[in-house]
Amino acid sequence: MAGLIPQWFIDDLLNRADVVDIIDSRIELKKAGHEFKACCPFHNEKTPSFTVSPTKQFYHCFGCGAHGTALSFLMEYDHMDFVEAVETLAAQQGMEVPHEQGVQPEKLRADDNLFDILQQAGDYYRNQLKQNQAAINYLKDRGLSGEIAAEYGMGYAPSGWDNLTKLFGESKLNQLKESGMLTENESGKVYDRFRDRIMFPIRDRRGRTIGFGGRIMGSDSGAKYLNSPETPVFHKGKELYGLYEARQAVRKLESFYVVEGYMDVIALAQHGVRNVVATLGTATTSDHLKQLFRIVPEIVFCFDGDRAGRDAAWRALENALPIMRDGYIIRFLFLPDGEDPDSMIREHGKIEFDRLASKAQTLSAFFFDRLSQDIDMDSADGRSRLAQLAQPYLQKLPGGVFHEIMLDQLAELTGLSADRLSKVTQLNQEPAIRKPDKPAQRQKNPHIRHLITLLLQRPDLAQLVESTDEVADLDLPGSDLLKDLLAFLHDRPDAHTGAILEHWRDNEYGKHLAKLALTEIELDAHRLEAEFKDTLSKLEHFRRNSRKQILAKIARGELPTAEEKAVLQQTANPADNNENL
Ligand code: UTP
Ligand code: MN
Repeated sequence: MAGLIPQWFIDDLLNRADVVDIIDSRIELKKAGHEFKACCPFHNEKTPSFTVSPTKQFYHCFGCGAHGTALSFLMEYDHMDFVEAVETLAAQQGMEVPHEQGVQPEKLRADDNLFDILQQAGDYYRNQLKQNQAAINYLKDRGLSGEIAAEYGMGYAPSGWDNLTKLFGESKLNQLKESGMLTENESGKVYDRFRDRIMFPIRDRRGRTIGFGGRIMGSDSGAKYLNSPETPVFHKGKELYGLYEARQAVRKLESFYVVEGYMDVIALAQHGVRNVVATLGTATTSDHLKQLFRIVPEIVFCFDGDRAGRDAAWRALENALPIMRDGYIIRFLFLPDGEDPDSMIREHGKIEFDRLASKAQTLSAFFFDRLSQDIDMDSADGRSRLAQLAQPYLQKLPGGVFHEIMLDQLAELTGLSADRLSKVTQLNQEPAIRKPDKPAQRQKNPHIRHLITLLLQRPDLAQLVESTDEVADLDLPGSDLLKDLLAFLHDRPDAHTGAILEHWRDNEYGKHLAKLALTEIELDAHRLEAEFKDTLSKLEHFRRNSRKQILAKIARGELPTAEEKAVLQQTANPADNNENL
């Protein structure tokens, strides 16, 4: 994606935007020395370990390791994708985002057209709702206030076959079809998809309407709900109904309820439970869960207690296992038979709903209950059967505390030792022994690493290197990166640390650089310069005596000096060095 927006623009953008401003307008930062601090917005904590550096132009959390630049903050905190983050930042700086030639800008333009159409269709439906007493009565009967209906942008699609074509004109026919608002019968006749239905706009993270659900008002013929089909802007497996509205309503969300229906989301909101989203008639995917876990540490599935609800919960659990990082919490709230969250909260109110929710089953309880439901846990056979059944699931869990807790529980249930179980459950994981013929990594050169660290500390030091020729013929691990970094900083003498990190973000070196950027070197400006020059000359010395040249010398028949022998040893590939075998 980054390729579509020219890199020079991103570099430029990052140099103009201020990471402190961006973050401070979203969470409250406190000055602490040269830096700013806050409680980390990416994990729960009581004492602030989230640090923003105005000089380096990046943030880092010493608690959870989150780090990045103004761009990555927008992506993580506002849940934007890369292009959205660039556009937002650019708009703030009054800059226009240039797009390189290619198919993507065309797609963006086409998507923009679809967003326009969907937005206008939503406006039209909202207008129609105001004029249709039957529809208003329907919503009132379902206990909804005008405010809540407005917050969720609800509307009414009148009966008739060509309302939208009339509204938009024939020229928009293709775009209307592409947006999913029209449908086509076998004989090729095109007509409005939603007729005489209550309309629920589905919005993306930025509040753009990307599709609709429509409910019939009576209980007569036809599907109860109709939904937009998959379109270039609407993907059911990724979108969550109500996410945008929840984030608008609550500043700091702490958990999410995941429910099954549009009306469940809205009825709960009506009663003051605002942290609710619904999947769109599909199973809860890992994509859904990852999105939610980026915002909150806890997800509570709130499904019917019937068979279908439990099956849906189990599918959600299966999709959750591979992404269960430490600190994530998943619980399951099964409602009494015949109830859904909508009917539940209307009958019993928020207090009772909260009470039930506080008793929701943990993931592990639901997991072991369900697996052992047909097993006789009083027999040894039964217990070992449970271990067998659990094994493939536990293998999907990433390692960590949660994995251990699950193993401990399994141990308790089966009477098998956690040690034994852990061996059983790790059978299919990566073999512990590496293939012996894998080439060993070349030893890292400490000078190169140090130079890169210094450059990340003070990018302007690059100007002390007159030309990258000085390091051109280095052939050491990391020397390519050093050369690239110097070239980059020569082109862009005003680049700060954040801009460097962003430049290498999607590159194999990105992570490495981010780590080095954290090093604090407590030296004043000119000591830092001296240190940099000193390291450069050490590297130069090393280069002159570098392995390649020494080997060339030996190949020419000369004998290596003691110093050269030491260099050979130091740079030796561990695979051909006896000591390391
Ligand atoms: P439900 O049948 O549980 O609907 O379907 P509900 O939310 O309780 O609806 P009300 O209370 O009768 O109005 C749950 C979800 O499944 C999808 C919709 O997304 C709905 O919100 N669904 C259901 C459909 O897509 N089509 C249908 O015909 C029914
Ligand atoms: Mn319902």
